[in-house]
Amino acid sequence: MELELDGKVAIVTGGANGMGEAVAHELAGNGAIVVIADIDTERSALVEKEIREAGGQAHAIVTDVREEEQVRSLVEQVTSRFGRIDFLDNNAASLELTAQDPDVVSLDPDVLAQTLRGNLIAPFLCCRHVVPVMVEQGGGSIVNMASVAGLTADVALSAYAMSKAGVIELTRLVAVQYGKQGVRCNAVAPATILTRNVDAYMPDDYRAAYIRNSATTYLGTPQDVSGLVAFLASDRARYMTGHVIPVDGGITAALAVVADRR
Ligand SMILES: NC(=O)c1ccc[n+]([C@@H]2O[C@H](COP(=O)([O-])OP(=O)(O)OC[C@H]3O[C@@H](n4cnc5c(N)ncnc54)[C@H](O)[C@@H]3O)[C@@H](O)[C@H]2O)c1
Repeated sequence: MELELDGKVAIVTGGANGMGEAVAHELAGNGAIVVIADIDTERSALVEKEIREAGGQAHAIVTDVREEEQVRSLVEQVTSRFGRIDFLDNNAASLELTAQDPDVVSLDPDVLAQTLRGNLIAPFLCCRHVVPVMVEQGGGSIVNMASVAGLTADVALSAYAMSKAGVIELTRLVAVQYGKQGVRCNAVAPATILTRNVDAYMPDDYRAAYIRNSATTYLGTPQDVSGLVAFLASDRARYMTGHVIPVDGGITAALAVVADRR
């Protein structure tokens, strides 16, 4: 399917690794001008180089999306250089905090606050500064990275789940409040995706349990998500807005007892 992203200007937060990196490649491969907004200076430069070597257009602007002044500066730099912002992939999150993220009673309120800052307030700040640009130019598309964690409940990762549930509501709010001005906003909710980082730390027993509870025989890869994100960015998805789309190997489609009944 031709996505017709030639010359469209896209910001991918957290575009230096994992799913953001895959989205940056996917968008650039479809002709978009991709701005990688990430705190990881070294990897941002590497992804920029790889995209350029593959014939695409990429620009790394090192940004901490938790800091409103940095988000403001990012948006100013992109609009002054390229004149518009057609697509925002709100992908970055403070994933290092998941190691300190247990059940609700044990959860440190400071960890919750930091998690919400990295995973919910940061995408809110990006929407706060990008939406007015999109409204002014007559439209645009936003995709927020949620998670199946925001649609379900686990025995741990309480702060992460709350942050992703918030991202899903942010998605609906933006879609409903700015849809008439041409802004679409959707969320993608992946299950565990084998990024470099996840592949390195995911224990074998958890991996096996995850696959046992999935409708597929394998876990997802960043490329299983990036195609959907690029589609949602494009006008081919012009009638899709305000929704959350799971990319989860069917894990949330099943009753919890299914794995034991197969
Ligand atoms: N990998 C999974 O299994 C999975 C599943 C569901 C949802 N998600 C979500 O997908 C998104 C991407 O996850 P991933 O696994 O690809 O992550 P990753 O760790 O591979 O990459 C995250 C990137 O975000 C950047 N980043 C972190 N904080 C930042 C900040 N404040 N400002 C700018 N950049 C920042 C990091 O430097 C890194 O490049 C996240 O929102 C995550 O919650 C991941």
